[in-house]
Amino acid sequence: MSSGASNQNLARASQTSDHWGRYYTSSVISQSLIDNIEANKPRLVLELGSGSGSLCTAAAARWHDAQLVTVDVDRQAPNRLNAAHIGRQVRHTHFVHDVLDEALSDKIGLQLDSVDVAVCNPPYIRPRWRADFGKILEGAGLSGALTSLHDAGADLLFLAQNLRLLRRNGKLGLILPDGLVTAEKFCRVRRALLRQHLVEQVVQLPRNVFKGTEAQTYLVVLSKMGGETNQVTLRRMSLDGRLSEPVQVAQDAAEKRLDYTFHAQVCPAKRSGGGCRKMVVREALTDIVRGTVCSSDIAAFRVPVFHLGDFAAPSPENLVRIVPNYFALNESEAQRAATQVRLALPGDILLARVGRGLQDRLALVVYGPCVISDCVFALRPIDEHREKLYEFFDSDLGRSALASSAHGVAARFLSKTNLFDIQF
Ligand SMILES: C[S@@+](CC[C@H](N)C(=O)[O-])C[C@H]1O[C@@H](n2cnc3c(N)ncnc32)[C@H](O)[C@@H]1O
Repeated sequence: MSSGASNQNLARASQTSDHWGRYYTSSVISQSLIDNIEANKPRLVLELGSGSGSLCTAAAARWHDAQLVTVDVDRQAPNRLNAAHIGRQVRHTHFVHDVLDEALSDKIGLQLDSVDVAVCNPPYIRPRWRADFGKILEGAGLSGALTSLHDAGADLLFLAQNLRLLRRNGKLGLILPDGLVTAEKFCRVRRALLRQHLVEQVVQLPRNVFKGTEAQTYLVVLSKMGGETNQVTLRRMSLDGRLSEPVQVAQDAAEKRLDYTFHAQVCPAKRSGGGCRKMVVREALTDIVRGTVCSSDIAAFRVPVFHLGDFAAPSPENLVRIVPNYFALNESEAQRAATQVRLALPGDILLARVGRGLQDRLALVVYGPCVISDCVFALRPIDEHREKLYEFFDSDLGRSALASSAHGVAARFLSKTNLFDIQF
């Protein structure tokens, strides 16, 4: 057994777990991950960041004859492992070591390219950058995929370390956070993974599967260098553990993002790389304005500023939610305000840019112009598309498209790019 790194190595811990990113996978999720890995009698099964051993326990129950190797930096982890259910597994070796050591394979006596199946729920923390990380990413063919190497969180580094240890056609089943699966800045990482490996499926998990966090997470199963991924199967898991019908997504659409909820609302022709009669929001607009008045300046601003709290709740009768007349500027006020800030104009559709319930906030500017805060987008539609676009954002489909396009856990936000790509 060897010992690991200290807490000093952490640049940023997750907001919802402790400094080692410790929160443990439930048996339902562990079982589902193992069930989704197609592997015939693996001889060597690995779990990096094994914690209390719920993934390797499920693996051991399925692959009785496999040799099991687990690694965790937490010195208490072996106690939890032994106390847990895996004591019966005779061919099990555990190491207390830092998974992010470039020389991990030597330290745990495994050759690179040797593991048949790896399972992993990595910590979602950002460790302070070390030279080792560059080598780990390079060894996994991922170093060129990041705009800045410092974007690499422990999730990506654990993924890379698993890829280095897996043999060709070896299977990796892991749990990933929202960032790697949907964020624009990881688009090239997804592209590299899809081109180098066979990404078999991605299952979007219910938001509250990990205690104490609402983080969106996913099960991902891939086959190392199992051929380029032309199509990925996406599913969603419901709270009772059942899987939805699959949607198949072509490689270029999958590079953009890999979440079920986003692609399920895209028309099938577009998902499979073909054309589609639906429009994207970008095509329906002549302009989009993001407000510039920040919330702390609203009270002192000379004229009323439309902010998040000013959106009316959806009306049961589906009445159009109009920005109250109170926010409308007269001509001279508008002229003065326009020298300082960009204005929303009559005909604009307002959406919230941030906030947990952003999908429920919608309004139409009828009287105006008016000043909007920096938490609000004003969409300026081409006349013929205004009504359809408003109705779409007012529908369940539109709300779910906005919700699934937004990023972030505690503070949700919608980027222009993600908004533009929504189909209606
Ligand atoms: C999210 S928990 C997952 C635990 C377990 N695999 C599960 O699914 O329940 C992440 C685990 O990684 C461990 N860990 C964090 N940083 C590590 C590092 N640099 N090297 C090894 N283990 C680490 C933590 O101690 C924790 O047990």
